[in-house]
Amino acid sequence: MTAMKLTCLSTILVVLLLAQNVHSQLQVGFYRSSCSLAELIVKDEVKKAFIRDKGVAPGLVRLHFHDCFVRGCEGSVLVDSTPSNTAEKDSPANNPSLRGFEVIDNAKARLEAKCKGVVSCADIVAFAARDSIEMTGGRGYDVPAGRRDGIVSLASETLTNLPPPTFNVDQLTQRFAEKGFTQEEMVTLSGAHTIGRSHCTSFSDRLYNFNGTMSQDPSLDPMYAAQLKQQCPQGSTDPNLVVPMNPGSPAITDVGYYVDVFANRGLFTSDQTLLTNLATANQVNQNARTPLWKRKFAAAMLKMGQLDVLTGDAGQIRTNCRVINS
Ligand code: HEM
Ligand SMILES: *[C@@H]1O[C@H](CO)[C@@H](O)[C@H](O)[C@H]1NC(C)=O
Repeated sequence: MTAMKLTCLSTILVVLLLAQNVHSQLQVGFYRSSCSLAELIVKDEVKKAFIRDKGVAPGLVRLHFHDCFVRGCEGSVLVDSTPSNTAEKDSPANNPSLRGFEVIDNAKARLEAKCKGVVSCADIVAFAARDSIEMTGGRGYDVPAGRRDGIVSLASETLTNLPPPTFNVDQLTQRFAEKGFTQEEMVTLSGAHTIGRSHCTSFSDRLYNFNGTMSQDPSLDPMYAAQLKQQCPQGSTDPNLVVPMNPGSPAITDVGYYVDVFANRGLFTSDQTLLTNLATANQVNQNARTPLWKRKFAAAMLKMGQLDVLTGDAGQIRTNCRVINS
């Protein structure tokens, strides 16, 4: 009885603590008077880059995710390594796969020329991710801004904060709960894998090295596995080999990801595992069959963008997104 009350109390406490994660004083239209063209300039740079290479859109969406899950949305993912520090972007979770950095740099250069020292790198990433979702056919949303840039970026912190593609549904649920997300939001956000690509190395164990008794993951559709094996030959030495994650429509933010997963064609263990739990399997099924997911995704991205942000006098406004101001 008392034990149960205690468990209940500690649950409430955890929920309260997690709620702090997403509490913030960000504001839609934050740059209205200080740099009125800020969002337009970012959108223009994203659009220019997107016309040249559609891959920048998934790159920028993932950049925002990897920024927010490590130390909050404060631009730590953009910082370059120095002789005395290996930064987040040089962790195996980010290098060589993370892309879109030049788009942020170009937007920042124009913003510094126009409104020196005003627009944070973290806000640029948040705007650019939203623009990327819009440009690929997803639902847009207003981005509350006023994030400040952090002054720490450590490669070691990516391992404990970003989920690896080998995670099962319980591990994913736990990792997202640590960031204040429900299991349903985790499933909703996983739908980001409806755009973009993956390096073969992120899933090749499912094809060639599954476990002690089976070389191939039996939960992967055998036809799809055969196709992936052609695209990703065993022991290939080319680290640049990539495949689309939702081959049917790799540049469109649609429900294709959920259709794939439901057909046992999820690329990562972390995608396919969503079918192994009753609640998450139901969500995959629902998302695959209605356009409602786009709305839920926009809401979840909005929430993700407020994770552990720095506001007010905290942090700084970096001059160069790759370098912490001295
Ligand atoms: C649920 C846990 C997740 C895991 C385990 C995971 C893992 C991965 C992996 C391994 C890749 C391929 C990287 C490569 O080898 O090139 C990838 C790509 C991607 N991820 Fe995730 N991810 C997760 C959630 C998310 C979330 C929440 C978002 C955004 C909201 C996201 C957005 C993307 C995008 C857009 C790509 C494609 C990137 C590109 O084309 O450059 N992922 N993810
Ligand atoms: C390998 O995976 C299969 C299917 O999930 C399972 O039945 C088998 O017990 C696993 N073998 C080992 C050695 O873990």
